[in-house]
Amino acid sequence: MDFKQQVVFVTGASRGLGLALARAARERGAKVYAGVRLTGDFREPGIVPVQLDVRDDDSVRRAAAACPDVTMVVNNAGTARLSQGALDPDVSALTNELMDTNYHGLVRVSQAFAPTLARNGGGAIVNVLSDATWFGVTFLAAYAATKSAAWSYTNTLRVSLRGQGTRVVALHVGPMDTDLTREFDVPKSDPAQVAATTLDAVAAGAEEVLADAGTQALRAGLGAPDAVFLRGGY
Ligand SMILES: NC(=O)c1ccc[n+]([C@@H]2O[C@H](COP(=O)([O-])OP(=O)(O)OC[C@H]3O[C@@H](n4cnc5c(N)ncnc54)[C@H](OP(=O)(O)O)[C@@H]3O)[C@@H](O)[C@H]2O)c1
Repeated sequence: MDFKQQVVFVTGASRGLGLALARAARERGAKVYAGVRLTGDFREPGIVPVQLDVRDDDSVRRAAAACPDVTMVVNNAGTARLSQGALDPDVSALTNELMDTNYHGLVRVSQAFAPTLARNGGGAIVNVLSDATWFGVTFLAAYAATKSAAWSYTNTLRVSLRGQGTRVVALHVGPMDTDLTREFDVPKSDPAQVAATTLDAVAAGAEEVLADAGTQALRAGLGAPDAVFLRGGY
């Protein structure tokens, strides 16, 4: 895949990994739309801001209608809240709150853009998941559940869109140095590096991207007798 031929729509592109992905796609010659909640605040040369709140059906529909030339969608918009393990009395309410963005938002955007991708030859959808998809983290109980759900949908979406020639890519990535992890005292990778690794893998035809060494080790150990989901992480 040559990015010079691609029209890429990145959700949640105002900052963090989304902005890094949008910049990386632009640097490779793609036309890039940045799905952002506040278009007035977005100033990035060569990237077109489009209003998008992934929790809002109308906003998602308007964004898809405004960008009929898209060939690649990156479902990056996401949010996290700290929780205190499985018995936290707020964990259910928190999970519902995060689901609206991390799961339902990804579903809304995928459904809204799928016909566009079909019309434009198939293209690709890249879903930003997490290493927390695969194991329990006490302080991320709610967030991890949303990412596991998003992984499940990603796998169904891959099968559902195969007939129209759309490749569905799962990006698994561990902690990165962004606003989302400001309160986490863990080693973090550079989102610009993750963006470059991701676009390289997508260009090479991958359906799954394991963006860092920690995630690669996790994935390789999923079938082991002491797999990480039996132990927990971080
Ligand atoms: N950071 C990590 O360690 C890490 C690890 C694994 C996976 N991830 C995933 O990577 C993705 C990006 O996270 P990040 O670390 O870059 O976080 P971030 O710096 O907090 O950025 C989150 C982005 O999502 C946008 N967003 C949130 N809710 C939205 C909504 N309802 N509609 C549209 N945009 C919305 C934010 O927009 P505003 O500026 O308007 O708030 C912002 O652009 C997320 O899916 C996250 O779960 C992150």
